[in-house]
Amino acid sequence: MNIKVGLTILSFIISIVVGFTLSKSGESDSSDKLTKDQIVIGLSMDTLKEARWQRDRDYFIEKVEAMGGKVLVQSANSDDTRQIQDVRSLISSRVDVLVIIPHNGAAMATAVKEAHKAGIPVVAYDRLITDCDLDLYISFDNEIVGEEQAKYLIDKLGGEGNIVRLYGAPTDNNAKLFKQGQDNILDPLIEKGAIRVVHDDWVKDWDPANAKRIMNAAITKTKDFDGVLASNDGSAGGAIQSMMEAGLAGKVPVTGQDADLVACQRIVNGTQAMTIYKPIKSIATSAAELAYKMATGKPVIANSSVDNGEKNVPSVLLEVTVVTKENLKDTVIADGYHSEEAVFDGGK
Ligand code: BGC
Repeated sequence: MNIKVGLTILSFIISIVVGFTLSKSGESDSSDKLTKDQIVIGLSMDTLKEARWQRDRDYFIEKVEAMGGKVLVQSANSDDTRQIQDVRSLISSRVDVLVIIPHNGAAMATAVKEAHKAGIPVVAYDRLITDCDLDLYISFDNEIVGEEQAKYLIDKLGGEGNIVRLYGAPTDNNAKLFKQGQDNILDPLIEKGAIRVVHDDWVKDWDPANAKRIMNAAITKTKDFDGVLASNDGSAGGAIQSMMEAGLAGKVPVTGQDADLVACQRIVNGTQAMTIYKPIKSIATSAAELAYKMATGKPVIANSSVDNGEKNVPSVLLEVTVVTKENLKDTVIADGYHSEEAVFDGGK
């Protein structure tokens, strides 16, 4: 399947007015629904493991409630069967709109179909749901995330060297996009022999313990590597743990993503080189506003579109920022994402 971010490359903004024609099929026989005018939004989450997801949830709820609505939240603990059950339970609670952060972007196509049967539109949040008639996708430009990670590392290495690569969870469409972005930068250098990938693997469920195992395997194979291209802060943390035990932490640059507090602290103490800051408040509040609009039948403006294998899904893609020791204060701290004390003194 060829997933492509459309048109943004030309810095050409198209405005797509997303018209939602779904009607609530069962609505007429629900007296409860007829008397209830508070908007209810279902939020089905893959996990709350990474710190960012708790913030996504909290900002999302805060915004929906500020608009007068209510959010029902379920979290599936990285389990597809459980996430399908969660969605079914939200459908039977007769939510007006479903917002899904899929554990598995392919498996959740079923959930979209079931929601549509009940007349409920679906928004994919942060991670795409593939091969289905998805109504809206809100995320960051994930291919750019991968490009920025690889560009940073290559720059640090002066354009050549041996690297270890840790991709994300194979079930997460974002992981494929991060890898695609990284490949865009690395492939020409690999082809001409300037960059050699000495070890690479996918981190199942983005679990830091799996990242640590992959890094252990890399170190057992060779200690001759100049950088580690980790796709998020959780896997960077696992890799750095392994490097620490081998006496290698802080010796070569390690990339990340999410601006997790512990990752920012590692950037300060020098064991991690960079992270990608994705403004969680922006994605959560935009998603809340868009979902609320959909629930009230108002038109929604999308600035882009993404091919999910079945259709060009109207999409809203937000920008990301590269964070290093030099700009920590002007980015995550200035934005109020973490306090200066927590980042600079909390890691000690
Ligand atoms: C998100 C990352 C996150 C990862 C693990 C990805 O889909 O975009 O921000 O670190 O999932 O939860």
